[in-house]
Amino acid sequence: MSSITPEAVLDALRTVIDPAEGKDVVRLGCVRDLSVAGNAISFRLVLEDPGGAFAQIAERMCKQAVRNAVGPEAGIRIEMDNEMIGLGDVDVVKDQRAGMQPIGATNVIGVASGKGGVGKSTVAVNLAVSLAAAGYDVGLLDADIYGPSIPTMFGVEGERPRVNDNRKLVPIERHGVKLVSMGFLVEPEKAVVWRGPMVSSAIKQFLGDTDWHGLDYLVIDFPPGTGDIQLTLVQSIPITGAVVVSTPQKVALADARKAVAMFEQVNVPVLGIVENMAWFTPDELPDKRYYLFGKGGASALATELDVPLLAELPIEPKLMEASDSGSPYVSELPDSETSKIFSVAARQVARKIDLINAGSSASGGLEIVYQ
Ligand SMILES: Nc1ncnc2c1ncn2[C@@H]1O[C@H](COP(=O)(O)OP(=O)(O)OP(=O)(O)O)[C@@H](O)[C@H]1O
Ligand SMILES: [Mg+2]
Repeated sequence: MSSITPEAVLDALRTVIDPAEGKDVVRLGCVRDLSVAGNAISFRLVLEDPGGAFAQIAERMCKQAVRNAVGPEAGIRIEMDNEMIGLGDVDVVKDQRAGMQPIGATNVIGVASGKGGVGKSTVAVNLAVSLAAAGYDVGLLDADIYGPSIPTMFGVEGERPRVNDNRKLVPIERHGVKLVSMGFLVEPEKAVVWRGPMVSSAIKQFLGDTDWHGLDYLVIDFPPGTGDIQLTLVQSIPITGAVVVSTPQKVALADARKAVAMFEQVNVPVLGIVENMAWFTPDELPDKRYYLFGKGGASALATELDVPLLAELPIEPKLMEASDSGSPYVSELPDSETSKIFSVAARQVARKIDLINAGSSASGGLEIVYQ
């Protein structure tokens, strides 16, 4: 008999839908402290409304779903939790990090790099659109106050989010993604003199004052580097996990290592590394891959740091053209090989986050410690 994995248990629990939310219990972050030891499975189930109709049947539904998936020999113990937490509309579900404000998203994904210009924004945009295409509610926050590029990449420069009756910012929605950019509110020239704490308090305010409407994922496009600003940001936003982008060159990898170290320092799990501009395939030689900047560096770094390599992306002029023309690549060319790489990476990110939320560190060597 093959052994039961936390992933298999979560896959089974994804079939258990809370009708009031219209989402499954994994997506809602209700499954916590998952432990799988041989045939013994246990977890806590934290529901928004512990007295509601769903709570009466949730335990039985979860047991049945898991047993159907992994076999009758499984021993399943579920602790129903009465912890009152908001799900969906207003609160961060599993933000257990002290002193942080709820921001209206179940999960926050930081996309960062040590070095500038390696493709962070490109990755953040296409990851966000891929997650939205997979059916999730997704937001994208451009935290790059000095060089915001999300408005250009979505073709919404010059647009301004409106403010609703509750005095909250209403994100601009494109390609299924709710967008907010520092570029909407602050002119980059005026931001040059801002220091880390100013940037981070502006962004925190931005996060809290936006009507995200219960996101599954909020992707944050970080400013490049691992300095004062980035460190303040990772300390002040409840980031569920980080994606570190690098190009294959040694100098970029050295900076990616610093970015991984920065997240680990503040106990933000690194979901994985994305190697961008890994190779080039000319149109006339479709079977060839030219590794212009060196080969295998990011994968070696991922192995060394014990984090997954989420994706290797080619140098793809159409990626750049799509960004410049204001229409994300994965929306323009959804069936291309590169779009498939993004969609696989998005799925991997979603699954890693499910494991983190479930408190299971069994996969990818992630050890989850909340401050
Ligand atoms: N795989 C790729 N193939 C071709 N061009 C790419 C690729 N990835 C990114 N680019 C282009 O490289 C430039 C830099 O990318 P991007 O703006 O995403 O980087 P960044 O890391 O966000 O930069 P910054 O540090 O300035 O925020 C952009 O013009 C983008 O379109
Ligand atoms: Mg950028």
